[in-house]
Amino acid sequence: MKIAALLLAAGTGSRFGGPVPKQFAALAGRPVLRHAAEALLAGGQMTWLQPVGEAESIAPVLAGLPHLPIVAGGATRQASVRAGLEALAAHAPDVVLIHDGARPYLPPGTIPALLAALEHHPGAIPAVPVADTLKRGADGVIAATVPREGLFRAQTPQAFRFPAILAAHRAATQDATDDAALLEATGLSVALVEGSERNIKITRPEDLPRMEHDMTARMLPR
Ligand code: CTP
Ligand code: MG
Repeated sequence: MKIAALLLAAGTGSRFGGPVPKQFAALAGRPVLRHAAEALLAGGQMTWLQPVGEAESIAPVLAGLPHLPIVAGGATRQASVRAGLEALAAHAPDVVLIHDGARPYLPPGTIPALLAALEHHPGAIPAVPVADTLKRGADGVIAATVPREGLFRAQTPQAFRFPAILAAHRAATQDATDDAALLEATGLSVALVEGSERNIKITRPEDLPRMEHDMTARMLPR
């Protein structure tokens, strides 16, 4: 089975702020994006790594790692994924893992669990059950309490049979917040596999020192 990993690094990191996009910020001595790339490649299952974003910025970060020519991203995450998928189409992978370059830590069990789930479903994503009580609100006042039973937070990498996700992206008529949503829209099933509270997407400035602490002090398993 030929597996491609699509690594997204075309965002500007507006919520994170700072002089460089968050995926290039240093974490435990290496850029966030480097951690993400190494985590994807660690298990040795990937045939191709397809980075998406600005080539001049990404190439030095991925130096020494095997990867396809870097593809330019788009204005939205979805457009960036689409660009990466179209580039990968030439190689006709069986499976693609679509991963946020802003997620520096991936537990070792996630990719095997996703690949196992793809034997029964065209898509699979890591997700964690929602722990907090959920409120719907408007104008600073609670409108309703939303039952959290059966609710999950979706993470990446999201894994798909390649032809199915390529078709879903080509057919998409509106913007979705993740790739699984596009597959769902075509009526195909997406499996939920066990995600991790440690698979954090660096989003705001405070996420970086927290992750740094986890990596250095608590020694996350790789
Ligand atoms: N991404 C991308 N192309 C875009 C937007 C996002 O490749 N046009 C990537 C980001 O680089 C990141 C991942 O998608 O690795 C998840 O997106 P997000 O966390 O929202 O990153 P940004 O869009 O960069 O941040 P923000 O929304 O705060 O501006
Ligand atoms: Mg964004």
